[in-house]
Amino acid sequence: MKAIIPAAGYGTRFFPVSKAVPKELLPVGDRPAIHLIVEEAIEAGAEEVIVITSPDKQLLAEYFRNDPVWHTRLAKKKGALAKLHHLEEISGRVIFVDQHEQLGLGHAVLQAAPLLEDETEPVLILLGDALVLGGEVAASTAMLEISKERNNASVIGLELVPPEKVSSYGIAAGKPDGSKDIYRLSDLVEKPSMEKTPSDMAVAGRYLLSPRIFTLLSTLEPGHGGEIQLTDAIAALLREEAVYGYLFTGTRCDIGNPEGYLKTLRLANRS
Ligand code: UTP
Repeated sequence: MKAIIPAAGYGTRFFPVSKAVPKELLPVGDRPAIHLIVEEAIEAGAEEVIVITSPDKQLLAEYFRNDPVWHTRLAKKKGALAKLHHLEEISGRVIFVDQHEQLGLGHAVLQAAPLLEDETEPVLILLGDALVLGGEVAASTAMLEISKERNNASVIGLELVPPEKVSSYGIAAGKPDGSKDIYRLSDLVEKPSMEKTPSDMAVAGRYLLSPRIFTLLSTLEPGHGGEIQLTDAIAALLREEAVYGYLFTGTRCDIGNPEGYLKTLRLANRS
């Protein structure tokens, strides 16, 4: 399986920090958020992780670049050396692709398409500023299992949100499919009003999508906010193929703004 981590956004909600530090590199414990996300992808079975970045965010590639000087610096520090070896191991699976214009999440995902032309199985997409903490099984691992049980169908991660917050998310409509946590989806709506929302199940930063998504993204007109929206492409996908939603057990944490980041640190501290 291949994974994509879109991490090329401007991070305006975290300005001025984002002027110098990509939000995806903010630390959660002893590791940057994106390190944890790469680990989640690899644990779920990704052989290759494509990080979508931009020429302004070279620090991301720098973090995953093997640098022999650190072997010398850490030679006598056993614990840190073990961490270096682990980082080098996961870095060997990470490659970078630039998104030159920040035209939205769907456009970011599309930048990986040339590398995935021969793909026939679903591709895992993990937002670079979203962590899923807690939960019995990692969200991506559970989603892969659900997909396998359903003939390799697409599965998207969902979380419940309060009614007054639905207008900040992509919201799913669907019917339970053999379990109270799994839904066969009938629609996805980007940022609906509280009055018009089809449910309280929000798209939550983890997607396992049929490669057909790339064709749909390539013909999509800009949607909400003038951006190429991944949600719109998934809405088109579910009119052609079965797409399932999974209400995962962990908590989705958004590190893309100061308040969300502080909440993430509090939660990570407890678990
Ligand atoms: P966000 O919408 O949360 O990121 O996208 P953003 O655009 O950086 O946010 P603000 O509003 O300016 O603060 C979710 C993920 O998708 C990536 C982001 O880097 C983030 O990890 N993204 C977003 C891209 O890679 N390219 C884009 O054009 C937009």
